[in-house]
Amino acid sequence: MGYTVGVLYNLRRRNGVDIAEDSSGFDEEDDEPPDSGAEYDSESTVLAVAEALREAGHRPVCIEGDETFFEAIKNHPIDIAFNMCEGLRGESRESHIPSVLEMLDIPYTGSGVLSLALSLDKPAAKKMFVYHGVNTPRFQVFSPGVSPFGTDLRFPCFVKPAHEGSSMGVTPSSKVYDEVDLAREVARIHRLYKQEALVEEYIDGREFTVGILGNEEPRFLPIMEINFSKCPEPHKGIYSRLFKEQWSDDSYYLCPAPIDGDLAEALKTIALSAFRALDCRDVGRVDIRMDCDGVVYVLEINPLPGLAPGFSDLPRMAEVGGMSYFTLVNTILEHAIERYARMGREPFVRARRVFDAGLIAERMEFEAVSKSA
Ligand SMILES: Nc1ncnc2c1ncn2[C@@H]1O[C@H](COP(=O)(O)OP(=O)(O)OP(=O)(O)O)[C@@H](O)[C@H]1O
Ligand SMILES: [Mg+2]
Repeated sequence: MGYTVGVLYNLRRRNGVDIAEDSSGFDEEDDEPPDSGAEYDSESTVLAVAEALREAGHRPVCIEGDETFFEAIKNHPIDIAFNMCEGLRGESRESHIPSVLEMLDIPYTGSGVLSLALSLDKPAAKKMFVYHGVNTPRFQVFSPGVSPFGTDLRFPCFVKPAHEGSSMGVTPSSKVYDEVDLAREVARIHRLYKQEALVEEYIDGREFTVGILGNEEPRFLPIMEINFSKCPEPHKGIYSRLFKEQWSDDSYYLCPAPIDGDLAEALKTIALSAFRALDCRDVGRVDIRMDCDGVVYVLEINPLPGLAPGFSDLPRMAEVGGMSYFTLVNTILEHAIERYARMGREPFVRARRVFDAGLIAERMEFEAVSKSA
């Protein structure tokens, strides 16, 4: 009979215009990041997710995860949320909507509040990786106002914003060879992104991304390698926003990656360790680099991987593995439903009770009376 599923999203737009086309240019004099909003979804992605859920017999309700969300969710009783919200602002923005959902006792797909906040804070996530023995590049964090001189990191290094995703702030200039370059790039991150700069040792080598679905017995999607061989200098070796937009055809994405069984195992093992280290749930994508000695390093984990059909890495990997977009979306939902069931909850009944219009009216009446008393 299906569930009423809230498809929760943040739309990519600036003054009503899709900003994908203008996000690759970069003007050194700008004070605004050219790629702001890059992590948000397009309308077509939201509709594709909703359609996949509808085809499976659910009743999708699309709700924007913005400032109006709290009121909107009260007017749209849902059984469970399919969470795609990247959040509007703040360094823990991906955890805002899930926090509200938890307060209202509404179940949702994917990782929880703490995992979402941690993964968006790359230095915090790296500390968790180090604690759990997950290899990650050596790093240092530079706060605005702190000089980046005196680093003991080995050059070249890579400079990126501490709290962004979707390759925001990542350009060929992010790779720095000396302290002069380093100071310039750190200043760029401070000026444009108004946040700490994360500086890592640059891992020169192949790049892979590993998709994970599930919880207790997670499954891996076919591993994807980013094929830098065809892209021109200075873009080689850097999976930037520009790379994603300009070189989106299949020849730039080797999937399944041309690797032997041992390397495939090593990549899956480190990806799953990262997924576990942050207590991720249902779905995730782990970005990994391998140096010339074959040592693998986790760059980051994406607990809200992009779901743009035919464009984002996860749907591409699923397709190669014979999993349609329909199945991918519904598998994520099923993992969440199973997870709640395993915890012995009756989430759907409870969520409906909280949103029973009568109850809300009753409570408001009570509050009005108690205030005037
Ligand atoms: N330490 C590093 N060494 C080499 N390359 C790096 C390093 N850090 C980042 N990169 C390059 O920059 C890209 C983006 O970095 P990262 O994955 O950390 O950022 P992101 O914006 O969160 O990515 P996503 O788009 O997957 O959300 C990587 O895919 C990789 O190509
Ligand atoms: Mg990444």
